[in-house]
Amino acid sequence: MRQAITISDLRDQAKARLPKILFDWIEGGAGDEKGLRENESAFDPYRFLPRYLLDVTGRQQRKALFGHLYESPFGIAPTGYAGIFRPGADLILAETAQKAGIPFIMSGASVSSVEDAAKVAPDSLWYQLYAAADVEITRDLVARADRAGCHALVATIDIPIAGKRERDLRNGFDFPLRMSPGLLLDGFLHPAWTLNYLRTGGLPVMANWAPYAPRGANAVDVARLANSHSFCVQTWDHLELFRQIWPRKLVVKGVMHPEDAERAVSLGADGLIVSNHGGRQYDRSVPPLEMLPSLREAVGPDVTLMMDGGIRRGSDILTALCLGADFVFAGRPTLYGVSAAGAAGARRAVEILREELDNLMGQIGCLDLGSADLKRFLYNPSRA
Ligand SMILES: Cc1cc2nc3c(=O)[nH]c(=O)nc-3n(C[C@H](O)[C@H](O)[C@H](O)COP(=O)(O)O)c2cc1C
Repeated sequence: MRQAITISDLRDQAKARLPKILFDWIEGGAGDEKGLRENESAFDPYRFLPRYLLDVTGRQQRKALFGHLYESPFGIAPTGYAGIFRPGADLILAETAQKAGIPFIMSGASVSSVEDAAKVAPDSLWYQLYAAADVEITRDLVARADRAGCHALVATIDIPIAGKRERDLRNGFDFPLRMSPGLLLDGFLHPAWTLNYLRTGGLPVMANWAPYAPRGANAVDVARLANSHSFCVQTWDHLELFRQIWPRKLVVKGVMHPEDAERAVSLGADGLIVSNHGGRQYDRSVPPLEMLPSLREAVGPDVTLMMDGGIRRGSDILTALCLGADFVFAGRPTLYGVSAAGAAGARRAVEILREELDNLMGQIGCLDLGSADLKRFLYNPSRA
């Protein structure tokens, strides 16, 4: 893994290893993928202005969040079905986060169970959910996340309906995966992934959903059940329900409009993740980075404001913090890593971001990230 020196290197390795249909599912966005590209390019206009003749040897990037001191100001965003890219990927990511001292948000569409994730990541685990069509299942999932000791519940609100992801439509991607001549050829051309997939039993059972399926249900049945419940209509009433039944920190993910941010906070949200779902829902979305300053203005200095979308460099992390984020999350970077090389790849993705951030902090004389005035390091932010 040492040869991967950037997130882009990990991306290339994941692309080489995964069947195209799966790599495209990770990589793709909605429509022409303008929104996806702009999530990354939104960082481009920013530059940093250094302060010299300071002793920077003691610099550190720890960041307190919800009363917990994390080793870096970034965590792993929830990504569904990770277990098909690499068997056990959810748990690998959870354990990577635990060892690195950063948060891991387990997806509501994960393959592994929240109970198993809690065993390997007791200090790092957060749980993301979409309301299920059956409210009793929603209540049970929340109760299980509570019993497992998850530190935060993350309600994702930015999937009112499915997005038009054209790579997936062209490739015929669906979950559960449908066997087709194209998929067989794709698998044949990527033997390392295919042999590992077959050796570990093929399509994995979505363990969080298995308890709600009839006895004897197989992996396909459970995936269909999960699909039939997920992505149902969600409204502000669901957020009120989550607030009533969840005892710890409640985070709302996918907030983009300042008025939605204010409303979520007024209903009891402890934190917000500004996000457009990695550009996967609709094409003409605004990059989350651009919305950060107005959302910060809307909710004030005391609400925990986080963001994700397009973080590929340590400098991206610092840019987001300078523009008002308390913390950021990365989705694809650790997925590339775990897909390319399992635990070593996931660890490398975290190391790359951490080392790049550390190097930048040293270069510009930024000793820690606690200061309320980080913005002074950004040069001419109005260039954006
Ligand atoms: C393959 C994939 C699956 C995802 N699945 C989920 C999910 O299950 N729940 C969720 O809230 N967000 C999901 N997301 C969105 C991520 O949590 C995150 O918002 C996004 O990836 C951030 O952008 P980035 O990939 O540029 O870092 C997914 C993203 C990807 C790439």
